[in-house]
Parts: sequence; structure tokens; C-alpha cells
Amino acid sequence: MMNYKELIAKLDRNSLPNHIGVIMDGNGRWAKKNNTTRLNGHKKGAGAVREIVEASVEVGLEYLTIYAFSTENWRRSKQEVHGLLKLIMNTLMQEIDELTKNNIVVKFIGSPKGLSQSYYDQIVENCRKSWNNTGLNLNVAMNYGGRQEIVEAVQKLVSDYSINKFQAEDIDRSLIQKYLYTDNIPDPDLLIRTSGELRLSNFLIWQSAYSELWFTETLWPDFNRQEFVQAILDYQMRQRRFGAAK
Ligand code: IPE
Ligand code: IPE
Ligand code: MG
Repeated sequence: MMNYKELIAKLDRNSLPNHIGVIMDGNGRWAKKNNTTRLNGHKKGAGAVREIVEASVEVGLEYLTIYAFSTENWRRSKQEVHGLLKLIMNTLMQEIDELTKNNIVVKFIGSPKGLSQSYYDQIVENCRKSWNNTGLNLNVAMNYGGRQEIVEAVQKLVSDYSINKFQAEDIDRSLIQKYLYTDNIPDPDLLIRTSGELRLSNFLIWQSAYSELWFTETLWPDFNRQEFVQAILDYQMRQRRFGAAK
């Protein structure tokens, strides 16, 4: 395999994806393989996040969205859920100053439902430090579920409709888009999923209608910047048609 610098040099800077989404899967299987706890797998996974964020900055990517915790992940043991919530908060608190220094804008997208007010407030308080930046937009999908996102969008939409903010015939795709968590975020061009599972698991289901999908058997804690750039190179070989004949 080519090294990182060689792979980077092969990128076509004029056709970079604007937005990459990553379904970071396989921490549990990595833990099992390495005879350790699932929580240690998640901790190791946090290290891979750092590497991919750095690579995104080097590549000059505009938007990176990482799936950290889904609305379905509450179904795991209390211990694992608690450990994940704590790990996500600790990582944010540890990394926010360095992320901010690197001109990165950090946002969390997802449902407030199920998270305590203080947890939610702490996220906003930390992320806010980065909001004057102009570099990579790093979105953390936390307590995120695509169907829940659409439910909450419809609730807000109906509530605005009832106070005559718009008429029924004003509802179009761009209006719906404005009610999603991803208002102001372009659709992902490329979605990466690790660990060999071939599904979206409720990630950005509205936004990924025309995303290119890229899968690898690599477990998330083993995912590295070389593979990340390889995914972008593969993306650049694809022909996107959006339904048109070419
Ligand atoms: C992904 O790893 C991390 C989260 C879903 C939070 P998993 O914990 O799903 O790992 P596997 O799929 O059990 O290997
Ligand atoms: C998707 O992984 C969610 C995250 C990566 C946060 P899961 O491991 O929860 O997905 P399923 O259960 O295999 O579909
Ligand atoms: Mg999994």
C-alpha cells in the first residue's frame, strides 16, 4: 500500500467531496479481538477519530460528520451507555481547545431527548468556543437518528404552520431541509462505514439520498488516515449521475 503522503498527492484537489459522513463501527468487535472490554474498544476508537479529523484538515475537507451515538444505542447495557456518554463528553472537553486552535468548528447534531439538561448545556458550552472559526466543520452525530430527526422536523413544521408561518403549498424539499438538524450543512457526498456491515443504521437517511457509499472490513479503532484518503480516491473515480443520463 502507498504511504499517506503519496496517497494525498494523488488526490484531485478540484473534485474533493464537500462533506464526508462516517459510521464508526466495530469498536466492540475490536475489543473482543484484543481481549479487552467494550468500553476500552470505544476509547481506542476515540483515537481513530483524532487521526481522521487531522487528515480531514490536511485534505482541506469542508464538512466531516461522525456518528458517535445513535437513538438506537440506548438499547445497550446501562454500563455501556453510561460509559459512552461519559467518553463522548470527556473527549469533547479534552479536545475542544486544540480543535478550536486548529480553526475547526465543532457542532453536535441529534435529539436532546434522553440527555439531561446539564449534559446538553455542557456540550453547547464547549462547542461554542469554536463557533467563530472558519475551517473544517466537524459535526458529531450524538443521540442522532434519521427517523427521529424527521419526526422532530415535522413537529416543528406543523407548529410553525399552525401559526401561519407558511402555507401548505410552500412546503418543498428545501423547506423540509431547513427543519432538519442539518440546516445549513450540505448533503454528504461520501459515506464511509467500517467493520464490514453494509447498512446505514439510521444515519442521515434524508441527506444521504445521493451519497456515494464506501465500506471497509477494518474495525473502527484500526481505521487510519491512509484508508481515509483511499476512500476519497475511490470516490473520485465514481461517476455521479443524480438520475440524469450521461
Ligand atoms: C461502534 O462500535 C460505536 C458505537 C455504536 C457507539 P460498536 O460498539 O457498535 O462495535 P460492534 O459493532 O459491537 O463491533
Ligand atoms: C451505528 O452502529 C451507530 C454508530 C456508529 C454510532 P451500530 O453498531 O449501532 O449499528 P447496528 O446496530 O449494527 O445497525
Ligand atoms: Mg456496531
